[in-house]
Amino acid sequence: MPLSVLFFLIVLLAPIPTTASGPATIQLKASLGTVSFPHEKHQAVVPSCETCHHKGVEKGACHHCHEATSGAPQGKDAFHKVCRGCHEKTAGPTQCSGCHHKQ
Ligand code: HEC
Ligand code: HEC
Ligand code: HEC
Ligand code: HEC
Repeated sequence: MPLSVLFFLIVLLAPIPTTASGPATIQLKASLGTVSFPHEKHQAVVPSCETCHHKGVEKGACHHCHEATSGAPQGKDAFHKVCRGCHEKTAGPTQCSGCHHKQ
């Protein structure tokens, strides 16, 4: 068998990398209207996961800490800061209705 074919087979048989990249879209519930967050699209435009997952991806959902946990700012303030903060400098929506959609 030619070496190139052997190499091709090895590549084919290599285990599919198990990426824990999270859901493609995440529904973030809010009284003003649910925010449909295109997570996967952001992973493509934001170079580092840690820009948002500032304590590390392995620490899990923002809501684990940004709810009642002492020390962490309220979810609303944290989300507005990180989400709208970047949008003000880039192409994302900054109007309330750009993120909050009544069902
Ligand atoms: C623009 C911000 C942003 C970027 C960039 C981002 N994420 Fe997320 N990610 C979120 C938000 C917001 C949630 C929802 C957290 C919640 O529901 O509290 C989330 C949820 C997740 C979850 C599910 C966590 C859980 O326990 O439910 C995983 C896994 C994850 N992200 C992995 C990644 C990885 C890996 C990258 C980089 C390739 C990444 N994320 C980049 C904002 C981001
Ligand atoms: C393990 C707990 C934990 C997780 C998970 C976490 N945070 Fe935080 N976050 C904190 C704490 C505690 C602070 C207070 C400052 C500090 O210790 O860094 C904070 C601060 C922040 C701030 C700064 C707020 C301010 O007023 O300066 C933002 C923005 C933020 N978090 C957004 C997020 C987002 C978005 C996610 C999910 C993608 C997330 N955090 C996940 C614990 C967490
Ligand atoms: C570091 C920068 C950055 C952060 C942080 C960020 N975004 Fe964005 N967001 C963008 C950019 C850039 C776009 C425009 C992407 C495009 O249209 O190609 C965008 C677009 C969007 C859109 C419109 C999507 C569409 O398909 O038109 C929504 C909704 C959105 N962001 C919500 C959020 C939410 C909610 C958060 C916080 C959890 C967040 N974003 C955090 C950069 C960011
Ligand atoms: C870039 C996206 C974005 C924009 C723009 C935005 N928000 Fe939000 N907002 C969010 C996210 C994400 C949350 C957190 C939802 C969660 O905790 O799951 C939130 C949470 C809230 C909450 C708390 C909801 C609750 O049920 O406790 C209120 C109130 C709110 N936003 C009002 C506003 C108002 C008013 C505006 C316009 C001045 C606005 N938001 C603009 C993304 C946005």
